[in-house]
Amino acid sequence: MNNKELLKLAEKARENAYVPYSKFKVGAALLTKDKKVYTGCNIECASLGGTNCAERTAIFKALSEGSQDIEAIAIASSNSEKNEPTYPCGICRQVIIEFGPEIRIITGYSEGEIYECKIKDLIPHYFSGSDFIDNK
Ligand code: THU
Repeated sequence: MNNKELLKLAEKARENAYVPYSKFKVGAALLTKDKKVYTGCNIECASLGGTNCAERTAIFKALSEGSQDIEAIAIASSNSEKNEPTYPCGICRQVIIEFGPEIRIITGYSEGEIYECKIKDLIPHYFSGSDFIDNK
């Protein structure tokens, strides 16, 4: 599964976005180290704080199905075809890095520019479990 193929799956997942409020559709496709794929879309609700981003939907699906070893997450949004890459929001950055600083983030447009970086580059000095576990 290459970056373009994973991004295409994110673009497909975007079709299921439930976005009556923002109208901003996002899809994500998560690749595990053992080559399984989990997709997700954003899901909004009238109490806006209950909204779940596409990235977290994909992560929660993977974890709840027994996959924790994440290799990469591709993201497609309503802006992708305009060649404007969408990167994960702050909450999603913190959730993604929970599962490894080396996770690759892929964004852009499958038929245009494709960008890749690591989650650790998007959230420097991040808060982690080691900040409070066994804290004396
Ligand atoms: N959103 C995502 O699903 N992922 C992102 O990376 C950015 C934001 C969603 C949340 C909300 O449904 C809409 O986009 C506007 O913020």
